[in-house]
Amino acid sequence: MHKLLVTGGAGFIGANFVHYWLAHHPQDRLVVLDALTYAGNMASLAGCLEQDNFRFVHGDIGDQDLVETLLVDEGLDTVVNFAAESHVDRSIHGPDPFVTTNVVGTHSLLKAAKKVWLARGGRSHRFHHVSTDEVYGSLTSEAPPFTEASPYAPNSPYSASKAASDHLVRAYHHTYGLEVTTSNCSNNYGPYQFPEKLIPLIILNILEAKHLPIYGDGLNIRDWLYVEDHCRGIDLVLEKGRVGEVYNIGGNNEWKNIDIVRLVCQLVDEAVSADGKLQERFPVAPVVTGGKAENLITFVKDRPGHDRRYAIDAGKSGKELGYEPLESFETGIRKTIAWYLANEEWWRAVMNGSYREWIVRHYA
Ligand code: NAD
Ligand code: TYD
Repeated sequence: MHKLLVTGGAGFIGANFVHYWLAHHPQDRLVVLDALTYAGNMASLAGCLEQDNFRFVHGDIGDQDLVETLLVDEGLDTVVNFAAESHVDRSIHGPDPFVTTNVVGTHSLLKAAKKVWLARGGRSHRFHHVSTDEVYGSLTSEAPPFTEASPYAPNSPYSASKAASDHLVRAYHHTYGLEVTTSNCSNNYGPYQFPEKLIPLIILNILEAKHLPIYGDGLNIRDWLYVEDHCRGIDLVLEKGRVGEVYNIGGNNEWKNIDIVRLVCQLVDEAVSADGKLQERFPVAPVVTGGKAENLITFVKDRPGHDRRYAIDAGKSGKELGYEPLESFETGIRKTIAWYLANEEWWRAVMNGSYREWIVRHYA
């Protein structure tokens, strides 16, 4: 039995991880620590809060005293650190919280883990740090995918702050012997993703007949992974990963942005045309008013410093951990669209809150 501190557990991937873990490891105890920033949402943890082996704590990873208290009082043996500022566009407009949470906050978490776990006789422990492929920078179209040996070359304040945190995690292992692992993952999609990220933004804008903004020429490439495959990958790292090692987790699934947007347009059109109830709920959706979602596509000014291509070589995770993505993009994207269609209450609440204020401030 393990006792885990899941930081950032009310965010997109963290919440999916909590649902995944409670389903696959019902004997374990989970304590979520989340500051509930604009990206944190208690509604994403519905169904968990009532469970005896689950506790939610509202707090900051930068609060070292709080983290130490939790580690001691709850007898926690594992940290899975999802907590972060995660949106590249926000990091361009305001990098400060990225440094505060991703660098200083992660360092504070490491200090707490070191103090509690190493100073008390070195009890069995694991500090797992969740990171991104964006730390490796941008690939040309012909370059081979990133491996764990690819040099770090972060280009945005977001990826630079994640790179800094990765280095601190590595240093705490090398210098102090803290038992760490790190995973660097490609772009995730799936349920509970905050609707300013590409895939949910496109789904929801179609339903409301809003423009579908494509940055630049739309030919930037990302390697997309269904979020549950990421959660399974982290589970495998915790179970079989070697301490001090880094594991890349990816989808082997490279797509140009414009092609993803066209696919989502086609699938949302199909779903709405096939269902009279959806037509009543979304009366301005293009297929209801006689149009096509694709007509909403609008090319807009490019993101400054926009990385051209990310792609992950997950060969090491495959060989050492038995990791491979299970969800195909076809099934994953259909599941994701179905989830957003079935969970209007969740995304309406998000969109009526801080999300809308932010969009208005930056893009109106
Ligand atoms: P998210 O923005 O949806 O969620 C982040 C969560 O962290 C939120 O619940 C937020 O309230 C919480 N948080 C922020 N600052 C905090 C602080 N100081 N203390 C405690 N909690 C805080 O992010 P996500 O997309 O779920 O990403 C989770 C992690 O995975 C991040 O570390 C990110 O870098 C990494 N990652 C994300 C992707 C992706 O495609 N989304 C891909 C690879 C890696
Ligand atoms: P995003 O979901 O922000 O993830 P990341 O920047 O971390 O990869 O964006 C994915 C890709 O989609 C990225 O190349 C930027 C692009 N994009 C758009 O073209 N339009 C949009 O409105 C958004 C949010 C992203």
